[in-house]
Amino acid sequence: MRFVHLAILSGLACLSFAAPITNSTIPRILPDGLPVPSPSELELIEDRAHGTLPNGPPPPSISEGGLTNLKLVAFNELFEVAFFHELITNITDKVLGYRFSNEDDYYFVLRGLKAILAQEELHVLDANNALAHFGIDPIEPCKYDFPVQDFDSAILLASTFTDVVLGTLQDVVERFAIGGDFGLSRVVSSIIGQEGEQQGWFRIMQGKVPSELPFLTTSDLNFAFTAIQSFIVPNSCPNIGSIPLETLEPLNVIRPPTAKTGNIMVSFFDHHHETIESILWMVYINQQNVPVVEPLHVISREDNEVVAEALFPWDAYQMNGLTFAAVTATEGPFTNAYTVAKATIAGPGIFVIN
Ligand SMILES: *[C@@H]1O[C@H](CO)[C@@H](O)[C@H](O)[C@H]1NC(C)=O
Ligand SMILES: *[C@@H]1O[C@H](CO)[C@@H](O)[C@H](O)[C@H]1NC(C)=O
Repeated sequence: MRFVHLAILSGLACLSFAAPITNSTIPRILPDGLPVPSPSELELIEDRAHGTLPNGPPPPSISEGGLTNLKLVAFNELFEVAFFHELITNITDKVLGYRFSNEDDYYFVLRGLKAILAQEELHVLDANNALAHFGIDPIEPCKYDFPVQDFDSAILLASTFTDVVLGTLQDVVERFAIGGDFGLSRVVSSIIGQEGEQQGWFRIMQGKVPSELPFLTTSDLNFAFTAIQSFIVPNSCPNIGSIPLETLEPLNVIRPPTAKTGNIMVSFFDHHHETIESILWMVYINQQNVPVVEPLHVISREDNEVVAEALFPWDAYQMNGLTFAAVTATEGPFTNAYTVAKATIAGPGIFVIN
């Protein structure tokens, strides 16, 4: 991929300091007036977030890849806002499965989640404001559907998608670096730390060690873009088409592996009959290591739905924490997550061990 400096945009951007997002056409379907809060709503968000939006100007220019980064960040943070808002609502409404027997726990959890919600809201606004600054339409929220029915499964999902975010923001920083967008790398790094703090709390709630790995698993923007869409009501995103990333064929993990060497079982739709025409491979991305490749064994194929198995070599690589699994038609060798995403036929399957 090529990252081009947009000289025209940079000229434009110098003239305007953080152009406000126009309000008239964007429906305010999220809490606190998002994605276009009024000044007084923004003040309340900042109170709850225990802090403010960065108040310096974004850099005068941005690469094309940098714009894609901002769009993906906004797209992801909108999804997180919707999730945490719904979770807080379930807890305060005392929905079955979301009730606390201990009042101290109830207030402690709500206090944490409300700060997280407001902080995620500011992450959305920061990315969308930066897009507006560069003359690009902000990303608008979709309708979401979360596959959770109680507090524990909600926290498990939150910790899984936060893991994906923690990997994806590594890719955002690298793409900013490749595009020369060094002026945007610091703020994203500050968000990585913030998401890591959330993750430590989610892991404690699951009785896990707070810090997951020495070097967190990395990801690719296209993996995150695909994964987020599994929580989106089809055709409910007003401007998802403006995000120049690929939606990959989903990979469903039927039987996730455990903390020992064993098999993973997956299913996916093979519309292009790749399982008939080629030998397929399962590629794992874990920690900061070179992707691991194993042969994929097809178990069954009905219509275009394939069920398959592959070895998950836990012992050889200590594959704790987040793993991305992807089916490819080439054996590699793959050097990084980007080359795996480029070769993915179905993926990512996502699971967290320990
Ligand atoms: C956006 O519109 C709402 C009414 O729909 C208004 O209350 C709010 O102040 C507007 N926000 C901005 C930033 O102009
Ligand atoms: C909130 O509760 C409803 C009803 O049980 C459930 O369908 C939804 O998935 C829950 N959302 C979250 C984020 O917990």
